[in-house]
Amino acid sequence: MRSKLFLTITLVFVPVFLFAQHSYVGVKTCGMCHRSEKSGNQLGIWKNSQHSKAFETLLTEKADKVAKDKGLKTKASESPECLKCHVTGYNVDASLLGKKFKMEDGVQCETCHGPGSDYKKKSIMEDKDKAIANGLLLYKKPEELCIKCHNEESPFYKEFKFTEFWDKIKHPISAKN
Ligand code: HEC
Ligand code: HEC
Ligand code: HEC
Ligand code: HEC
Repeated sequence: MRSKLFLTITLVFVPVFLFAQHSYVGVKTCGMCHRSEKSGNQLGIWKNSQHSKAFETLLTEKADKVAKDKGLKTKASESPECLKCHVTGYNVDASLLGKKFKMEDGVQCETCHGPGSDYKKKSIMEDKDKAIANGLLLYKKPEELCIKCHNEESPFYKEFKFTEFWDKIKHPISAKN
């Protein structure tokens, strides 16, 4: 009896405690340190990419027409069926959204790198292992991340060619790649 209760507590509460605590700080916060040419201007590269416009896209007539044709009762910009690939944070508890976080920023830094409240500090960021331990997501195989959204569930799916697409959004720290 006791061990069963213990198991329940472990299974239910430990994961919530471990995985739900990082909160979203927003692109502006990341951009404070990631916008100089010297460090690779990740902010500028992202701003010039379609990812930064992914929410705006849902505000268009074209988007609403697709939503309607799919039988959705809400506008594209209010439908979880569309938001799930076009923004971050729409389905997250408000307590986990920082003041500077904006869903309107679309597919943003934290969509791919994870919520940053605990890794954004300079001393942590400079140490890759510490950053990862505090929630930073990096990818050995970036393609696996991309195809979570770039797939046939997308109403406007274009064949996803990793090298070609990555070339349009890559944002290295130095000019090394
Ligand atoms: C206080 C400044 C600061 C803030 C804020 C900050 N970073 Fe960083 N970040 C750094 C520094 C410094 C590095 C170390 C790499 C370097 O030399 O530029 C780094 C490295 C990284 C790396 C590469 C890690 C690696 O080792 O490959 C990623 C990815 C990253 N940051 C993402 C983010 C994201 C996403 C945010 C916002 C949630 C963010 N950073 C906020 C300063 C910052
Ligand atoms: C969370 C979902 C999501 C992930 C993950 C994602 N994307 Fe996207 N991507 C989108 C959406 C949504 C758009 C369309 C934005 C728009 O046009 O409004 C897009 C657009 C693009 C475009 C522009 C395509 C065009 O036709 O001009 C490129 C390039 C791209 N993504 C590359 C990538 C790469 C490379 C990865 C992986 C490293 C990736 N994306 C991961 C959602 C995602
Ligand atoms: C599985 C992820 C996914 C879902 C779900 C999704 N999208 Fe997208 N959307 C994308 C990606 C990725 C692109 C970029 C096109 C590409 O390269 O495949 C995109 C592009 C678009 C575009 C721009 C097309 C263009 O070429 O002008 C519109 C409009 C759009 N989506 C509307 C919607 C609407 C409306 C919904 C909900 C009914 C929706 N999307 C659901 C991933 C998704
Ligand atoms: C569509 C997903 C996506 C978005 C959006 C995105 N990144 Fe990345 N980022 C990646 C991937 C994939 C890599 C390369 C593989 C890795 O190290 O994880 C990367 C690498 C980096 C690196 C390390 C580059 C290096 O040379 O080692 C930094 C720093 C970084 N991103 C910061 C940011 C910041 C800041 C933003 C927002 C302004 C951002 N990223 C937005 C997916 C993304």
